[in-house]
Amino acid sequence: MQTPCQKQVDMDQVDLEPAPTPQEMRAYADANDILVLAHSYQEGEIQEAAHFVGDSLELARYAKSHDARNICLCGVHFMAETAKILSPAARVFVPDPKAGCSLAEGCRSEDLAQYQAHLKTKLGRDDLVTICYVNCTAAVKALSDIVCTSGNALEVVQSVPAGRPILFVPDMHLGAWLNEQTHRDMHLWNATCIVHELFSVETLMDLKTQHPAAKILAHPECPKNIRDIADHVCGTAGMLRLVKQAQGGQFIIATEANMIYRFRKDAPQNEYVAAPGPSCACNLCPHMQRNTPEKLWHALRTRSGEVLVPEDVAAGARKALERMLEIRPK
Ligand code: 13P
Ligand code: SF4
Repeated sequence: MQTPCQKQVDMDQVDLEPAPTPQEMRAYADANDILVLAHSYQEGEIQEAAHFVGDSLELARYAKSHDARNICLCGVHFMAETAKILSPAARVFVPDPKAGCSLAEGCRSEDLAQYQAHLKTKLGRDDLVTICYVNCTAAVKALSDIVCTSGNALEVVQSVPAGRPILFVPDMHLGAWLNEQTHRDMHLWNATCIVHELFSVETLMDLKTQHPAAKILAHPECPKNIRDIADHVCGTAGMLRLVKQAQGGQFIIATEANMIYRFRKDAPQNEYVAAPGPSCACNLCPHMQRNTPEKLWHALRTRSGEVLVPEDVAAGARKALERMLEIRPK
């Protein structure tokens, strides 16, 4: 069963007030004991309003290590669930509860449970290890042995003793990349990210012709044909580290286009070109885009859109998340 994890509010039906400036929203959050966390795929105004902006791993660590009473998580639903599981005493809420993720939708916990049983029987192995990418529901995390993010996936896979069979869910492209990098032969689930699977080799090569000195950075959620022409394959935190080290470089960015706001802010010395999506000059995640400054302002004032995780599910998911957090990236 999927988790009945939130008090649903249909934000499309709410009459929203205009938002004040990001600084005013942060001041309001400070005065009302609310910690605002944002993923780097959020639009600039939301990033500016947040106390902390990071990748999935950094957001999880931040939520766990800060004893917040209220957390407003600007990102997608699984990120808010993760914050709630790691910071259970906090009230966690989101600007728009409908902000989901195609990877999380592509792996239902009841299907996973069935497949795990099938695979154990087929392999004749009871010691199957399930690794889940953090982009999944709390119920899927509860069925998994350990979680990983794009920031620590290699270390997590390498932490499993050689010879143990591994099932990797839900992202087939990230799983395939990990198999290439680690020479493991993990069994892969077949879900994909609707944003990263749409980049095209042809348009990337056209951009490369226009900017011959530019390096292509691709997220490991991209399919193999895109990863193969990229100069670097890394998660959002890895990309940020890389561009900060560069001096006056040019980069073609094959990930969610809002990431470039963060790059321009933290590494303004370089030039960034967004890899085009299928029908426009950018590539934005429709789920991340559900959050707007107006919805954030509404959430801060009403604390609606609360995310809840039933304790039996949270306990299992917490174990798998904490195993991940014990592994330090190299
Ligand atoms: P990161 O883990 O790199 O932040 O990515 C999250 C995500 O949703 C990528 O599409
Ligand atoms: Fe999910 Fe893809 Fe959006 Fe990331 S970019 S939240 S993986 S749909």
